[in-house]
Amino acid sequence: MQNTSSKEIIYQVYPKSFQDTNDDGIGDIQGVINRLDYIQELGVTTIWLNPIFKSPHVDNGYDVSDYYDVDSQYGTMKEVEKLIEEAHKRDLKVLFDLVLNHTSSSHKWFIEALKGPENPYRAYYIWQKTTENNTLPNNWKSFFGGSVWERDSISGEYYFHLFHKDMPDLNWENKKVRNEMIDIAKFWLNKGVDGFRLDAFIHLDKAEGLPDAKYAEPGQLIGAEEFFANLPRVAEYVKEFSAALRKEYPDVYLLGEASSADPEKAVKYTFPKGQACDSIVSFKYFPMDLNQKDQRLPLEIQEGKLDIQQFKQVMDEWQRKVGKVSEMTLYLNNHDMQRAVSRFGSPMKFRNESAKTLATMMYLQKGIPVILNGEEIGMKNLELKKRENTRINDIDTLYTELLKKGISEDEVKLFLGAISINSSRGAMQWTDDTYAGFSDVEPWSGANQEKIYNVSAQAGNPDSILAYYKKLIQLKKTELFTSGSYELFITASPIMAYQRQYNGEKAVIIANLSEQMQRSPFDKKGLIDAEVLLQTGQFKLSEDSIELSPFASIVLKQSRKGDLL
Ligand code: NOJ
Repeated sequence: MQNTSSKEIIYQVYPKSFQDTNDDGIGDIQGVINRLDYIQELGVTTIWLNPIFKSPHVDNGYDVSDYYDVDSQYGTMKEVEKLIEEAHKRDLKVLFDLVLNHTSSSHKWFIEALKGPENPYRAYYIWQKTTENNTLPNNWKSFFGGSVWERDSISGEYYFHLFHKDMPDLNWENKKVRNEMIDIAKFWLNKGVDGFRLDAFIHLDKAEGLPDAKYAEPGQLIGAEEFFANLPRVAEYVKEFSAALRKEYPDVYLLGEASSADPEKAVKYTFPKGQACDSIVSFKYFPMDLNQKDQRLPLEIQEGKLDIQQFKQVMDEWQRKVGKVSEMTLYLNNHDMQRAVSRFGSPMKFRNESAKTLATMMYLQKGIPVILNGEEIGMKNLELKKRENTRINDIDTLYTELLKKGISEDEVKLFLGAISINSSRGAMQWTDDTYAGFSDVEPWSGANQEKIYNVSAQAGNPDSILAYYKKLIQLKKTELFTSGSYELFITASPIMAYQRQYNGEKAVIIANLSEQMQRSPFDKKGLIDAEVLLQTGQFKLSEDSIELSPFASIVLKQSRKGDLL
């Protein structure tokens, strides 16, 4: 086993919502170029851009129709080349989002495949013949609802799609498909891209024979992940892909999206170093307490509250198991989940404190921070103004029903915002203008208009969330926080506390993750005189206990020679 450490800090730019420069309500490449100085000043090292390839945008660009071209709504190839060049001038690396598992149904491979079983591209996808009584080939349910099978009316056969029906899965058993993806990756590496986020790569292998899930009721569709997630050949495919790229581009960075990976799988996907992914993002970091739901609102679409006690155990487990092999990613949000301030923080009462404390608690652990654009100014979920984009069919009826129950309009909006698929994809808040300084016209997603939570309001304020993030990022890049060992302390539940230690230096991070004042036994002598590196809210430290105001946090560092604890 090796000792891992990395100074990478990744900034996720959701290009569609970042900055619009041609007033069509959609962010663009030129917008990202215009904001590179801003990104550089944050202190991050790498930008990850969600997909910008040509796409019909059935799934916001995760349905690619041409991997060798840039979507015209984002700009031109020239602009992308300029982006890479300008980013590099600022010492920023660029990761593209590579969709490996599926293409758009408008991709030329699929258009060819539809021509019939004899077409050479037919084998690029997964097909099943129609059974006599015309039933579906199996009972698996797609992530986007309905069956994973769609009938092609010309041949009568079914093709497989884990996501939308216009996103057919590629057949990774076919070496030609694997080589195509290698060629695509090399094309972009040759243009100077520094690496890739590998979208949904854990689904590349499907169970032999595509069998039914036996435990389903007749006619029931089942989200049977055991048949299409984390199967044995996934690691082989990734290693083959990685080896092919690293032969010519040894420094390529591969960030795998492994939504359902546990620590053991994360180890499998990142070991040995340099022969697979460099790190992965799992969605399993945040165990939710299903008993904590708002009884007045529909229960089945609520996720509950963060189970803090469990969350601490999960972080500890990832640190111990994955930390030996590779760097775990540290993140609070991404485009597929709600904004952390709304989800785990306190969007109404302690927004500043919760934004700063969540970041402190998460990013000073050992691992690679992945920060979603807007997080650094405390952006909350996009307020849903009685409109589409939840996965609920009749949002208007639900809206009216909730109001009738006596729930306030603000609360209803907050709730509907939380269940929207675009909750974290709102326009980046550059100013407090109607369209947040993102565009002069209504953004595709809508925009929150907020006085304090925008870049221009926070830029000159040393107490702002933005200023705090910059300090935090600088601190994170020091050896103590990149390479130091990690030890979780036992504390009362809503308090998370851990120690980092490196070459005789020690720091302790203590965070209250609740809206109440918290006190916990905390027997750590010597901390009283420690240097306070960062502080949010109020704290009181005595010989045997610690008291923290709502969503307060502190970072303490050994101030004198000798043992801190
Ligand atoms: C994961 C992406 O993050 C998500 O937004 C997308 O819908 C699926 N992969 C399908 O590509």
